[in-house]
Amino acid sequence: MVLKDKVIIVTGGGRGIGKYIARRMCEQGAKVVICSRNERNLEKTRKDFEKQSNLEALIVRADITLKDQVKTVIDKTLEKWGKIDGLVNNAGTGGMNPITWADDGQWFAILETNLHGLYFMTKAVLGAMKKGENGRIINIASHLSKTSFPCYTAYCTAEHAILGFTRSLAKEVAKDGITVNAICAGLIDTDFAKKRTHEMADQLGLPQRDYTQNVINAVPIKRLIDPLEVGSLAVYLASDQAQAVTGQAIDINGGILVP
Ligand SMILES: NC(=O)c1ccc[n+]([C@@H]2O[C@H](COP(=O)([O-])OP(=O)(O)OC[C@H]3O[C@@H](n4cnc5c(N)ncnc54)[C@H](OP(=O)(O)O)[C@@H]3O)[C@@H](O)[C@H]2O)c1
Repeated sequence: MVLKDKVIIVTGGGRGIGKYIARRMCEQGAKVVICSRNERNLEKTRKDFEKQSNLEALIVRADITLKDQVKTVIDKTLEKWGKIDGLVNNAGTGGMNPITWADDGQWFAILETNLHGLYFMTKAVLGAMKKGENGRIINIASHLSKTSFPCYTAYCTAEHAILGFTRSLAKEVAKDGITVNAICAGLIDTDFAKKRTHEMADQLGLPQRDYTQNVINAVPIKRLIDPLEVGSLAVYLASDQAQAVTGQAIDINGGILVP
């Protein structure tokens, strides 16, 4: 139980990668706080946890782009468990935004969630985290934090920026015993990945199934990554064993991007 009694907030834990990061952390003894917007998904997560393995998590409905709701997450965490040891900034959104599109909505929606939401959460957690007690900030980024993709300027901009944030903040808070790292995820088996591959297929006028298979064939390990595999990496980074790992952008991508 490498996270025994650590209090860790996971944003976007109502579904997708966040749900499985939260599960892995609970399995390792952490007291996990899960926040996202959709009440039904949050409730389902809570029931799944109880049913599957008798795990307990604090569920807080919150939109991370709204500062007052971010404050509620911090307040409820401190009220229930009295401290915060870690934060996993996982909540995010994505999608195409070709530069020719008249509507700027997608640009702002992606930057607001993936970047500003992450900033609000991190700032609020750092304000509540005790110095010198092995604090952890883990940012879920992407292989697109390190490379490019046509028609995804907003997503690539946000994901590249997460690495700049991670690296600079790591140096700023190292003196307080807090580490800051990013996990650069490749194609993880969630609705998010399905939506992205389907929208690309539609853009190219290809059948969704064929395009998805082509994408999987391009991954050296020839499969999508299980979100629980991301959870296991996050557990390591949150553990005391990872005290010397900071300011890093760690890849879990099946070899799709190898320097
Ligand atoms: N799946 C992949 O292949 C992949 C690859 C690279 C990186 N990533 C990154 O991994 C993270 C999670 O991706 P995923 O695949 O799990 O996506 P997902 O299945 O779409 O889940 C996204 C999660 O974020 C929450 N969320 C979105 N906006 C929010 C907001 N404003 N406030 C609070 N919660 C919010 C969603 O819940 P609600 O809608 O209920 O709020 C949901 O729980 C994202 O940051 C994404 O960029 C994913």
